[in-house]
Amino acid sequence: MADDKKHNEDSNRNGQKNDNLPDIGEHFMVQRPDNTWHSAEIIQIRPNEQPGGGNSTYEYYVHYEGFNRRLDEWIELDRFDLNTKGEDLQNKEKDVTLILTDLMDGTDRKITRNQKRRHDEINHVQKTYAEMDPTTAALEKEHEAITKVKYIDKIQIGKYEIDAWYFSPYPDEYGKQSKLWVCEYCLKYMKMERSFRYHQSQCTWRHPPGIEIYRKGSISLYEVDGREAKLYCQNLCLLAKLFLDHKTLYFDVEPFMFYILTEVDRQGCHLVGYFSKEKESPDGNNVACILTLPPFQRKGYGKFLIAFSYALSLMEGSVGSPEKPLSDLGKLSYRSYWSWVLLELLRDMRGTFSIKDLSHMTSISQNDIISTLQSMNMVKYWKGQHVVCVTPKLVEEHLKSAQYKRPPITVDPGFLRWQPPKKLPKLAKK
Ligand code: ACO
Ligand code: ZN
Repeated sequence: MADDKKHNEDSNRNGQKNDNLPDIGEHFMVQRPDNTWHSAEIIQIRPNEQPGGGNSTYEYYVHYEGFNRRLDEWIELDRFDLNTKGEDLQNKEKDVTLILTDLMDGTDRKITRNQKRRHDEINHVQKTYAEMDPTTAALEKEHEAITKVKYIDKIQIGKYEIDAWYFSPYPDEYGKQSKLWVCEYCLKYMKMERSFRYHQSQCTWRHPPGIEIYRKGSISLYEVDGREAKLYCQNLCLLAKLFLDHKTLYFDVEPFMFYILTEVDRQGCHLVGYFSKEKESPDGNNVACILTLPPFQRKGYGKFLIAFSYALSLMEGSVGSPEKPLSDLGKLSYRSYWSWVLLELLRDMRGTFSIKDLSHMTSISQNDIISTLQSMNMVKYWKGQHVVCVTPKLVEEHLKSAQYKRPPITVDPGFLRWQPPKKLPKLAKK
């Protein structure tokens, strides 16, 4: 039986068409890891090199239509319903709407724009090309063509084996490897478990390079200058790209500072996440990229890093905003952070105040404040200006609702040892 299957597949790949077997560009119903069935496109096919040969001669790289590309994966033939070969659903408004209602509660109710945004963010629904402006759509298509397949689908770092989410441009001889081994301290990457074990016995690093600027309990944060620890920062960016869809910085790390979050135990400082920040940002960005490694996600580290980035901006006396575009998870985390900070502040404010005042107090940019207040129905547009419009009762109601939560880990300024870098005085123009 298994031999039959192999034979069929082989003849298919040799060009003798067997109409039922998946081929690149075709669409089938596929069983997802959570056992639900979803329409998927075949992006790539490779010989199955799983130990023991796996369940089919080939593995198929699939994209689930309408879902974030993070969920793309290599699967074997037993996950397909081979009787469902169908056409492309992508870009069809009607079908996308169907998927949306499907994901909600099945009823066809009208939702407000804010509800839809939140729903899309939480369910990681991707914009279709039809919903984008033509330039964005063209750039996005090009980006997808280059980064379609994540060949590296697993990494081992410290004691964690982690599934990769996206393509990352590791040098060729590493990039076609399905698993990479990464030293959790110096971030050197290796193809073989043997070299990794040997490296572990030799590597003397136990914490990131640079200066520890925050330590409270087992949480420790290092500031690393991209110019001084170039290789470390490049390795960090390659690692981060496995979890970030849109990121173009890998090698030109010198103009950035990196803030590395670790959990400390007797062995050393274990990498949890980081954010990077341009030393001089013409666009007023206080974060370029932010990441929590998957085993540590959803525990509050993301919002801790965000809070930290604003704590630094406050000490610099500047206002900042994260670099765009934000990912779906980035939006969720920022929205949650901004809402909490503003609600806490509004609870204690009396009298009249402006959006600019709120911005000064939090280092959150005025645009980010306006969009956050809008999502909570707390701002009105009046005589060409945005006006904060809240009652203590409305603030209390929001603070009590499940949607707005106190961040689990907060930044304690008393434990921050940091001075803003001295900016060189601008030369006067002649
Ligand atoms: N599904 C739904 N909600 C999620 C998920 C998820 N998979 N992951 C996090 N969230 C929600 C959390 O529930 C929380 O919401 P809440 O405050 O309403 O409870 C919020 O997002 C933040 O959670 P944290 O635990 O504080 O954040 P986390 O440590 O998970 O890190 C981060 C968030 C950094 C965005 C992480 O998901 C990540 O690294 N993602 C991959 C890289 C990425 O997308 N980075 C942002 C790109 S944009 C930029 O860099 C400027
Ligand atoms: Zn090392």
